[in-house]
Amino acid sequence: MTATVPGAPPPVDAAHDPHLSGTFEPVIDEIDAGDLEVTGELPPEMDGMYVRNGPNPRFTPLGSYIFPLEGDGMVHGMWVSGGKARYANRFVHTPMLDAEIAAGRALWGGLMTGYTPGAAEVGPSLAGTMKDLPDINVVRHGGKLLALAESAPPYALTPELATVGRETFGGSLPAGICAHPKVDPRTGEMVVFCYGLEAPHLTWSVLGPDGGTRRAPAAVAGVDQPVMIHDMALTERFVVLVLGPMYFDVAAAMRGGSLLAWRPGDGTRVALIPRDGGPVRWAHTEAFWSWHSANAYDAPDGGVVLDYVEWSRPGGLSPDTGPVVGGIARAEIDPVSGTIRRRFLTDPHGMEFPRVDDRRIGQQHGVVALGTKTQRVALANGEFDAVLWLDTATEQTVTWDAGDLSVGEPCFVPRPGGSTDDGDTAHGWWVTFATDRTDRSSWFVVFAAADPGAGPVARVRIPVRVPLGLHGAWLPTEE
Ligand SMILES: [Fe+2]
Repeated sequence: MTATVPGAPPPVDAAHDPHLSGTFEPVIDEIDAGDLEVTGELPPEMDGMYVRNGPNPRFTPLGSYIFPLEGDGMVHGMWVSGGKARYANRFVHTPMLDAEIAAGRALWGGLMTGYTPGAAEVGPSLAGTMKDLPDINVVRHGGKLLALAESAPPYALTPELATVGRETFGGSLPAGICAHPKVDPRTGEMVVFCYGLEAPHLTWSVLGPDGGTRRAPAAVAGVDQPVMIHDMALTERFVVLVLGPMYFDVAAAMRGGSLLAWRPGDGTRVALIPRDGGPVRWAHTEAFWSWHSANAYDAPDGGVVLDYVEWSRPGGLSPDTGPVVGGIARAEIDPVSGTIRRRFLTDPHGMEFPRVDDRRIGQQHGVVALGTKTQRVALANGEFDAVLWLDTATEQTVTWDAGDLSVGEPCFVPRPGGSTDDGDTAHGWWVTFATDRTDRSSWFVVFAAADPGAGPVARVRIPVRVPLGLHGAWLPTEE
């Protein structure tokens, strides 16, 4: 039993929270493990590191815990080279987390509590601050490896996953960036957006291949209230943002209500922001929610094609009742008329974390991979027991049933030296972390992209449990 400061909320009931127990139960130790046991064969030419971020509260959260929006970040790295593998994990050491480690207990309240510690507990510089939450994603760009937060400054990491510190890109992006920036493989630019409670409520900006600011944050005209946007997509011409009717309602929160308000009557808007800086084109349709896009590209007819995961509403974040379904959908957006045509490309029965070969970002893609549920067992939000690959050309799917394994987001690993025109079905591999629900053993699994439904060609046993998490990246070894 951990003592709490008078006035601080009590710890949540972690044992009964599906994202603080079972396959999501946080781990505490930071470890290094080499020469891991491999079943099957790691492709000898695979050379690089798979790194994945995720919420991993170091101490039992106080008052509230909302997955996937909060929790200390922990990055898990799997280095693969010459058919061998090693693993390490590290917390993303924010000043707030380090203050909690020094105190030996949680000091900040959960997001829904609004509780922050005072100077007597954390000193004047941290008193009254919100906790930084760089726990969602990772990206390497401009020579920096970044642990990404939700529209807040990311944290730079060393190649060995030690924390360097908060990254504001030389002060040019003090408000931070989104958790899902997109790197254009043609230009090397990283395009980002950032939403905020204060005006301007939505900005976008561009970092050059060297990591320097190429376009300073510009307000997106037509966004006059704070709205939550988690992901984005790119085409050669446009930045694509899906604005579901999920608003921040600070006034309601001040009255003790919910900070987030789902207003389906407003419908969903899609912003097409010309990358050359021209006026934003808006398109509008009935309300739906999307956490994640797979990819977008410019169609020959002048439209924009966006593949994404569509939900009828944002699950546990909206008070609406009724079924929530998620499936890969395609939106064909006309920038001139502002119309959107949508249809599901898969049976919408619950799936998330769509990924394509990152070399196809902004251009027509072949395969979308993501986690899905067999519906054989009850799984938490963000937990899957199958991986699904959709061939967008044929609209055929292949599924690998993971059995007792729970899996997360799949990530594409290109074959070294392969042409970027290779497409993404014949070459390379898909990888992810998996944890067995029966004995809680964790694995790094590798699928041949040519035949992923056949199951992993290699399974690497990780000597510690890797909790399920959020998003990862493959970082090829740099020359
Ligand atoms: Fe995400």
